[in-house]
Amino acid sequence: MAVVKLERVSKVYPDGTQALRGVNLEVKEGEFLGVMGPSGSGKSTLLHIMGGLDAPTEGRCLLMGKDLSKMSEDELAEFRRRRVAFVFQFYYLLEDFTVLENMLVAARIAGVPDAFTKAKKLLKFLRLEHRADHKPAQLSGGEQQRAAIGRALITEPKLLLADEPTGNLDSKETRRIFELFKRLNEEGLTLVVATHDESLAPYFNRVVRLRDGEVEGIYLSK
Ligand SMILES: Nc1ncnc2c1ncn2[C@@H]1O[C@H](COP(=O)(O)OP(=O)(O)OP(=O)(O)O)[C@@H](O)[C@H]1O
Ligand SMILES: [Mg+2]
Repeated sequence: MAVVKLERVSKVYPDGTQALRGVNLEVKEGEFLGVMGPSGSGKSTLLHIMGGLDAPTEGRCLLMGKDLSKMSEDELAEFRRRRVAFVFQFYYLLEDFTVLENMLVAARIAGVPDAFTKAKKLLKFLRLEHRADHKPAQLSGGEQQRAAIGRALITEPKLLLADEPTGNLDSKETRRIFELFKRLNEEGLTLVVATHDESLAPYFNRVVRLRDGEVEGIYLSK
C-alpha cells in the first residue's frame, strides 16, 4: 500500500499563487523519497499537503489509505500525532521551552515511552548535549535545525516528512544526518525529504523533480 498517494493535487494560495499543478505521486512503504527542485517550485507546499498540514485546492491526498479531506480536525490531529513527524524548513520550535523540553513535549504528545533516555541518546547523536537546557533563541540556526530533527525523531514515526532538514548544516553534519536517515529507513521508516542540494540525490531511492509546481520527472536513484 502507498503510504501517501496524491491524486491530481493542485494548490492555489489565497493570493492567487499556484504552487502545485495536478501532481500525481505515490510514496511507497519503506521508501526514501527525495523531492528536489528550485526555490519556489512547490516542495514545501507538497510536503505540507502530504502531512495534512495544508489542504489541496483540487485533487486529493490519501495518507495510509485515508482521504485527509474526509477526516475531522480531531481525527487528523490524532492521525498525525501517532504516525507522521514533520521537520519544518523554519523549525517552529516552541520558543518558551528548552531543546530537551521541546523533545519531551513531542514524545509526550506521541505517547512514546522512555522519552528521557531516548532524548539523551538523540541529543548526543545530534551533538546538542551541551545545548539541551537552552531555549531556541539562544541557539545557532544549525543547532535549532538539529533540535527540530530530534523533536521529530523522538516520536518514532512511521513516516517522516522533512523539509530542507539540513539546509543550515555544514556538509559533514549533513552527511551524518543523512546516514542516520538511511539507517532508520533500513529499519522501516518511510521518508520524504525536500532538498535543493544535488549532492544528496544518491541517498534517495527515488527522486521527484518539481518545476513550477509540476512533476518534471521521477527518477530511480539507485
Ligand atoms: N502562504 C503562501 N501564500 C502565497 N504564496 C505562497 C505561500 N507559500 C508559498 N507560496 C508560493 O508558492 C510557491 C511554492 O512555494 P514553496 O514554499 O512550496 O516552494 P519551495 O520549493 O519549498 O521553495 P524553497 O526551496 O525556497 O523552500 C512559491 O511561488 C511561493 O512564493
Ligand atoms: Mg521550501
